[in-house]
Amino acid sequence: MSVILNIDDLERASHLSVDQMTWDFWAGGANDLQTVAENKAAFADYRIRPRYMRDVTAVDTAPKTEIFGKKFTIPCGLAPSSMHKLAHPDGEIATASAARSRNWPMAISSYSSVSLEEAKEAGVDNLLFFQLYVFKNRETTTDLVRRAEKAGFKAVLLTIDSPYLGLRFSERRNKFKLPRGLEPGNFVGGRYAGPIDFSVEAKSKSKGPGTNDDLLMESKPNVVDPALNWDDIKWLKSITSMEVWVKGVMTGEDAKLAVEAGADGIWVSNHGGRQLDGCLPTLHALPEVVDAVKGRIPVHMDGGIRRGSDIFRALALGAAFVWIGRPVLWGLKYDGQIGVELAEQILEDEFKLAMALSGTTSVGQISRVHLTKKVSAT
Ligand code: FNR
Repeated sequence: MSVILNIDDLERASHLSVDQMTWDFWAGGANDLQTVAENKAAFADYRIRPRYMRDVTAVDTAPKTEIFGKKFTIPCGLAPSSMHKLAHPDGEIATASAARSRNWPMAISSYSSVSLEEAKEAGVDNLLFFQLYVFKNRETTTDLVRRAEKAGFKAVLLTIDSPYLGLRFSERRNKFKLPRGLEPGNFVGGRYAGPIDFSVEAKSKSKGPGTNDDLLMESKPNVVDPALNWDDIKWLKSITSMEVWVKGVMTGEDAKLAVEAGADGIWVSNHGGRQLDGCLPTLHALPEVVDAVKGRIPVHMDGGIRRGSDIFRALALGAAFVWIGRPVLWGLKYDGQIGVELAEQILEDEFKLAMALSGTTSVGQISRVHLTKKVSAT
């Protein structure tokens, strides 16, 4: 493919060169992929109300507020996803370098393919969030958190939507396995009790509800703790001075509980539709979360963002910031660091144009008045 004009082109281009097992792993979601599709489709439920005859010569895409004292290029960042070396030999080093070069923030997965320390060296101040799964083995969990703090991360991003793993048929059909030589970078060399075993065989021994087909979590004894609850926010805060953000909040009720539990930030997410299929799309969860939080802590979101006008719509519904998941992997597969930078540039250009064409010159001007719900034909 010669010209990449948008994120869909990038998706197609990466598909051409990736093996089927990896492609299915990225594209996949839980069960019927209803939520995967609806995350994306939900943006079309809102239409932009443009205003004209305003001077839009200069459009500033910088976020309204800083994150950890840093001003980024646009209110969009690189969400955590596992094992970037499946996409490119440089893995998260390439992703973190792309975050740094275009001044985007990044969050790294617990299941990165390089260690959090190595990635932090490449991402420096742009790699801010360490995404955490709380394992049953709290010593392992504590050690990971302490390592992240020591490496200079600013926040733990606690993923709460995965007490068990969503059922992903494609991974099971493919008998998904990490290629030889690829290991989760934070766990290499028997560092913690028990290996992280990514094979389908290991998973099939799972005893939790459902058959738990996620290969990246079924392992013994480092398996994710299904007993995790709001009191654990206090526990996390007691073992680190980093901020604690909560990823996976999907309702106003949980948003309120997160604030009460002392969370420093909320990230509306349904794991890109990979966990509970049939749950609401994140864009539809966003307004109730924003209303429940009442500005007490920042509200971010991810899920289905593929266009600059999607970023605009999420901000108009009250997100302070949005994050992209799969487009990062597509960029990485397409051309390593340069491919991720291309994804960033596409979204920057599109977002700037969406702002200008709707009559806004700064991010702070974007609000609910810029949206209307799509009216269905009768
Ligand atoms: C993810 N996501 C994810 N989230 C998380 O908290 N920890 C993780 O290790 C992973 N791993 C992961 C792997 C893959 C292959 C994908 C596609 C996603 C979820 C991710 O952070 C984010 O919530 C979604 O990807 C956002 O949706 P979009 O942008 O992919 O539609």
